Amino acid sequence: MTAVGDIGGISTIPGTSSTDRRAVISLLRRLRSDEGQTNPLPVWEELRSMGDVVRAPWGGYFVTGFKACSQVLRGRNWLVPDFAWQERRPDQERWEAPATREMTRTLIRLNAPAHTCQRRSLGNPFDRSSIEDMRPGVAALVSGLLDGLEDRLRADGEADFVSLVAEQLPIHTVGRWIGIDPEDHARILDFTHRQVYAQELLPAKSELAISAQATLEMRAYFTGLIRHRRANPGHDALTGLIHYWDSQYPDDRAAADRVIYDLTMFITIASLETTSVLLANIAWLLTRDPSRADWLRRHPEHIDDAIEETLRYDPPIFVNSRIAADDTVLAGVPMAKDTTVHVLYGAAAHDPRRNPSPGVFDIRRGGGHLAFGGGAHYCLGAGLARLEARELLAQLLERFPTLRPSAPPSYDTSRVVFRRITSLKVTV
Ligand code: HEM
Repeated sequence: MTAVGDIGGISTIPGTSSTDRRAVISLLRRLRSDEGQTNPLPVWEELRSMGDVVRAPWGGYFVTGFKACSQVLRGRNWLVPDFAWQERRPDQERWEAPATREMTRTLIRLNAPAHTCQRRSLGNPFDRSSIEDMRPGVAALVSGLLDGLEDRLRADGEADFVSLVAEQLPIHTVGRWIGIDPEDHARILDFTHRQVYAQELLPAKSELAISAQATLEMRAYFTGLIRHRRANPGHDALTGLIHYWDSQYPDDRAAADRVIYDLTMFITIASLETTSVLLANIAWLLTRDPSRADWLRRHPEHIDDAIEETLRYDPPIFVNSRIAADDTVLAGVPMAKDTTVHVLYGAAAHDPRRNPSPGVFDIRRGGGHLAFGGGAHYCLGAGLARLEARELLAQLLERFPTLRPSAPPSYDTSRVVFRRITSLKVTV
């Protein structure tokens, strides 16, 4: 049973015509298909044509317009769905799943004051000067990974950009920052891919079971890592977190360990698939049309613009949810306290009122996107993801002037919330 398949059993929502409901269900099904993952733009367009806010089949709303999405992400009257909200849900079984509860303890599901307190402990680890300090290290990682790509292309004439580069750069980068042994990278990538199901819109029981197993592996790995780092402190971010939280809980080591685990685990997994999709999309969107890459090679001052346009055109995360803190009105629609809204990043970025001719990939458009979210929960690692993208794109353009896809990317079609590109075959 698939998550979207569950929708069929949901009773009609008052105020929604059955035609609208059927149309939304059909669009969500399309998003979980090869067709929808390969080209989600028609889905965004159809949902937006139904309004800035569109009734979700299970209650709540999808938010499609750029302005309304931005208002929700930045507004103080919108909260993230935390434990208190989950406990008020009728479908307790769904929220009691261990993999779901594990995620509800992390930054992305905490509201103030717990969120403020944890976020403060991190400072701004990827501010301008830290990024400059990290740049040579990331450039060296890119160079090494591209050596591997070159070897494979020379040997086989074709290589998978995802497994060799797009999946590797994020884990190497965050791994070096946290202090993770490269031997553990494959294991972390593996449980991250499986854990993600718990964060889908309506995961099926079988998917929650996969996530539960991945969660056990993830917990065992990171608690072991923290134990080891306590005994062997270094000069990495994890050692910094241990010092900080031990000083906050001088008499309660278990409490300190719990927060250190939540933060280390979440930052690591939040940095992987997201950045990997951005890097694969850069290779796909810029080299599928050789004139784009040629133009960018002659205008390297637009590399950052190319990265922003890639994030706008195809954001790595499709959906994010918020809850109304009080009775409110969104895009003219009254919403009661506790109403769930699902912000659609892709639909927002393709809103022609914000980005005219949204279906055109235009490096120089200077458009707007919400790919890193907004407000208190704005992505902690946006600076790091942009650094990885910049160093990769600059070296790709220089070293591989004829690089091009030999087939379109393949996608994980079981996802709606987190996009995953499973392979992108390239040649020269
Ligand atoms: C292209 C890559 C990335 C994308 C598209 C992305 C996207 C996002 C989005 C949409 C959010 C939620 C924002 C909201 O709710 O308003 C988020 C939060 C977060 N991201 Fe990223 N992210 C990326 C890379 C990274 C990296 C590299 C890291 C860490 C090194 C990271 C760590 C986090 C953390 C810790 C949060 C939670 C922030 C909070 O709730 O306070 N992300 N990200």
